[in-house]
Amino acid sequence: MAVKPRETFGSRMGMLLAMAGSAIGLGNIWRFPYTLGKNGGAAFLLLYVIMLVFICLPVMISEYLIGRRGASNPFRTFDKLAPGSKWRWIGFIAVLASGCILSFYCVVGGWSVKYLVDAVSGSLMSFGGDYADFFGAFISNPWEPLTFTLIFLGITGLIIAFGVRNGIERMSKIMISVLFVIIVLVVIRSLTLPGASAGLRYMFVPDMSKIDANTCVAAMGQAFFSLSIGCGCILTYASYVKKDENIAASAAWISFFDTGFAVIAGLAIIPAVYAIAAMNGVEPDVNAGPGLVFITLPGVFSSMPLGNAAAVLFFLALLLAAITSAISLMEVLAAYIIEELRKSRAMAVIISFVLCGVVGMFCSLSFGPLDGFKLFGLSVFDFFDYITSNIMLPVGGLFLALFAGWRLKRANFIDELTNGGALKMPRWLSLTIYYLVKFVAPIAISVIFLNCILS
Ligand code: PHE
Repeated sequence: MAVKPRETFGSRMGMLLAMAGSAIGLGNIWRFPYTLGKNGGAAFLLLYVIMLVFICLPVMISEYLIGRRGASNPFRTFDKLAPGSKWRWIGFIAVLASGCILSFYCVVGGWSVKYLVDAVSGSLMSFGGDYADFFGAFISNPWEPLTFTLIFLGITGLIIAFGVRNGIERMSKIMISVLFVIIVLVVIRSLTLPGASAGLRYMFVPDMSKIDANTCVAAMGQAFFSLSIGCGCILTYASYVKKDENIAASAAWISFFDTGFAVIAGLAIIPAVYAIAAMNGVEPDVNAGPGLVFITLPGVFSSMPLGNAAAVLFFLALLLAAITSAISLMEVLAAYIIEELRKSRAMAVIISFVLCGVVGMFCSLSFGPLDGFKLFGLSVFDFFDYITSNIMLPVGGLFLALFAGWRLKRANFIDELTNGGALKMPRWLSLTIYYLVKFVAPIAISVIFLNCILS
């Protein structure tokens, strides 16, 4: 079967929004607040920002640059840029990582579908009890979460089946604006609840004694996860980008938006946790884990005027944000299957759906019937979350930076960064980026890992 010419994004804006859509997702709204809560609040945030600048931005630029230059799926890209070398296995690991992430991501995506359905039917707001019980009862039931997981995965597959321009680009445009407006409304409500200021202090006044080797790994993992870097998503999207894009500027914008969104989501949730705990006279539990958003926010909505409408809009936006990220993950698998295994797009979608659906099933059941089953002391869900975010993505990022910094050669790197000299970028800037990629990011990632292994 002849491979059709590759699609490209229709416009610069569409490309930026699709990448931002990949980055902005459950990672910001669901994972960031509870990881921040688990890892000591402000100190974690500070570490996060430092890693963003010195590790993640250089890695994102590397991945973008490699993707645009190779214009293929991750596996073939490395084969094209370094023919016959072992580098192609980095591409393969990236494809694998994307599949593993999608497998647990679709479970949380399924939770969003469920909450949206319940918000629309009114049963979420009329529940009246403790939302921890509501959430607990839902996820421990074997069938319901599983059904929603598959629905979420099915929607994702359907969009992918439509291809780059009609599917991915169009969807990403609408969702970011809706999400932003709603979340700002929730922040306002959350911050005006009595007792919210303790939450603000937790988020912004760092307690350095909270930092240890594990916090560093957690902050690095969260940053990689949230920015969608290290697993070929940015690489695959970049392969659809035209050659006149300003890589460094796009990467900086995406990181800025993504982090802004995470902090705003934190502001919507953490102060509310404190306020609600103060109201009930209990200790705030920001360490509630993956359920945090699904437990806290319904509580906030039920205490605000027009709460039901806010809940509907919020869970709709959350779902859209999750979908635009999930499609970037499935597109990595699809591009690989189409180009390497020579299957049609529709077939690629079906294969991805089945693979991720099966693993996703185990992740979903690990909150219920498979509760007692542990891998290295973690539930199946936590295991996939941990190994992908904290290990596979940073390792992927390490190799992407090493490839861009050492294998591509300085002249090629700068040439790609400046679009063959067409972009007027000051020399000091391109060199700084180059050295961040070549030395700073790889050394920093290695040190963080070593520190964790040795501690
Ligand atoms: N960045 C996405 C989010 O924040 C998740 C994701 C991770 C997407 C890795 C693609 C690759 O939800």
